[in-house]
Amino acid sequence: MEILRTIEEVRKLAARWRQAGERIALVPTMGYLHAGHLSLVKEAKQRAERTVVSIYVNPTQFGPNEDLDKYPRDFARDEASCREHGVDAVFYPDNAVMYAPDHSTWVVEESLSQTMCGLSRPTHFRGVTTVVLKLFNIVGCDVAVFGRKDAQQALIIQRMVRDLNIPVEIVVAPLIREEDGLALSSRNKYLNADERQRALSISAGLRSAASQFDAGERSAEALAATVRTAIEAAGGRVDYVVVMARTTLRPLPLVNAPAVLAAAAFFGKTRLIDNIFLDP
Ligand code: PAF
Repeated sequence: MEILRTIEEVRKLAARWRQAGERIALVPTMGYLHAGHLSLVKEAKQRAERTVVSIYVNPTQFGPNEDLDKYPRDFARDEASCREHGVDAVFYPDNAVMYAPDHSTWVVEESLSQTMCGLSRPTHFRGVTTVVLKLFNIVGCDVAVFGRKDAQQALIIQRMVRDLNIPVEIVVAPLIREEDGLALSSRNKYLNADERQRALSISAGLRSAASQFDAGERSAEALAATVRTAIEAAGGRVDYVVVMARTTLRPLPLVNAPAVLAAAAFFGKTRLIDNIFLDP
């Protein structure tokens, strides 16, 4: 497995692969890899001869008061996981490689990014779309794999690829949970034992709402209230609980079309997100 620190190294290796007729899949990550990321690697390996994992904590997607400085990092462990899972190359750039000091060009998606996480994190998705397009341009990948835990991010990237005619196939892989229901996230590391226990209320609330939905409840307000109540009863601070149309992310007062029930909540200082799909 190759560890690549510069754009030139990536381009050289990718050109060699392409010349040999091999397709390249990219799994973009911010590192501190967990089973969710590794499921994306498995998906990538099924779709291309070569798999590249990028590990880069992208500063432009963090707001001024967010957790950029304390975002968990463990490159040695990430490298070992990638090796063990048959990754061909890890792209591990530093900020000087990724952003010129006078960087001033952004990719801005203006519709899907205006809701949900975009409300409390107004510059987040601009940072994501910009770095993801940069990674696509650096690697020249045929396929890229993202996780459904970040359902809004995945939709925005699909929209960007469509709108800008980017020749990369986007694959969205299922959300992976701990056995007790907690959605896997690098940020789970911030939770102490008590917060982690209380954070289970997010997935438990979503499960209760799913049961209500299965029993025939179609009111978005009622379904969202179930999740909100569960989180608040556990002492969490809700950022949002919403029911949105699955592809447009417009509010869906009555769930009579494919929807996503999504939640974001703080436990202590840690902001967690989770979602389920509702299919009438
Ligand atoms: O999902 C993430 O970890 C990040 O938002 C991504 C896609 C790697 C861009 O920095």
